[in-house]
Amino acid sequence: MPNSKHFPSFKASLPSMAGKTVVITGTTSGTGQIAAMTTAGLGAKVLILNRNSERSVNSGRELAATNPEAHIEQVECDLQSFDSVSAAAARVAELCPEGVHVLANNAGVMALSDTATKDGFDVQMQTNHLSHFLLTRELMPLLERAAESSGDARVVNHSSVARMSPSKTLRADYLEPRGGHLGGDGSKLDNLMFRGPRWRRYNQSKLANAAFTAALHQRLQATGSRVKALVAHPGLANTHLQKTSVKEGGMGSFFTDMFMRTSQSPEDGAMGLLSCMCLPEATSGQFYGPGSGPFAMRGEAKPFALEAFYDNAETRDLLWSKSEEAIGRTFEV
Ligand SMILES: NC(=O)c1ccc[n+]([C@@H]2O[C@H](COP(=O)([O-])OP(=O)(O)OC[C@H]3O[C@@H](n4cnc5c(N)ncnc54)[C@H](OP(=O)(O)O)[C@@H]3O)[C@@H](O)[C@H]2O)c1
Repeated sequence: MPNSKHFPSFKASLPSMAGKTVVITGTTSGTGQIAAMTTAGLGAKVLILNRNSERSVNSGRELAATNPEAHIEQVECDLQSFDSVSAAAARVAELCPEGVHVLANNAGVMALSDTATKDGFDVQMQTNHLSHFLLTRELMPLLERAAESSGDARVVNHSSVARMSPSKTLRADYLEPRGGHLGGDGSKLDNLMFRGPRWRRYNQSKLANAAFTAALHQRLQATGSRVKALVAHPGLANTHLQKTSVKEGGMGSFFTDMFMRTSQSPEDGAMGLLSCMCLPEATSGQFYGPGSGPFAMRGEAKPFALEAFYDNAETRDLLWSKSEEAIGRTFEV
């Protein structure tokens, strides 16, 4: 595991999160786990949303043991199921009458096989984007409540360098219930080279994360809301993400091991996410990560502007209308 180069000084610069309620998806490992540990240590009330597993039980225990003073709540949430997401949102509402100051839509999967969720969508698109779209819709009244009372609430999405490759164009069919019929699983060579249909589906889901941020930002601004919409990317961080992809056949272990020698630690990778979640100077419509280009794999997180290839009227409208259609509900900001 690579050493953290920037995280210790970054962490020391973060403000207190006392009095804030933070909701994070996917905290069993990686950037979500670091975000939960860090915000709990800074005094926030932290709700961790995970699907049921040994990993969720163990990581929840570790979070509570490391932060004995913190108010931590575990909420079951399987992002492969809209019913589970709706139930999780209802539980968050019960647990947070004070509202939600930060919703971090962090959880994700990468290069999985061409499989449908029980709702019929591609497993990567539903886990990475559609379920987060639904969660955000359901929690928006709580975010508005926190913004009203404290002047600051945020939705933070977690994208990737993969948002721009192989395609910069968001496509409607990837947001439709066509799970299992979106290109297949690719050849062994495709998967060794991080290309082919599994990677295209990941690309579309991470492009959707950025387009969702742009569309949400625009809608929030238009209504004069004080809720912010931000997006982060971690560069290349050594987390469980790649291990799952290798196990599921989306990456070869030899090349992945070689490639991951160039990665940064999960802590350094979490700096973009935590910047969006915690920094007072972070404004709506900003992107935080180790740079905006295709080779921004390591380094300190810095802000940059949303990019024109998804922050345009056509893509924002496509993202919003197809996501509403997918969840079967309108999302009025
Ligand atoms: N690591 C990188 O280099 C990199 C690069 C670009 C973007 N990202 C993005 O960073 C985010 C965090 O990933 P990571 O690198 O920290 O990977 P990770 O260590 O694998 O963490 C992913 C988290 O998502 C959770 N998750 C997956 N499927 C879920 C489901 N159906 N319901 C609920 N939770 C689910 C996992 O929980 P389980 O234990 O239940 O699987 C885990 O807690 C992702 O959105 C990823 O796309 C990472």
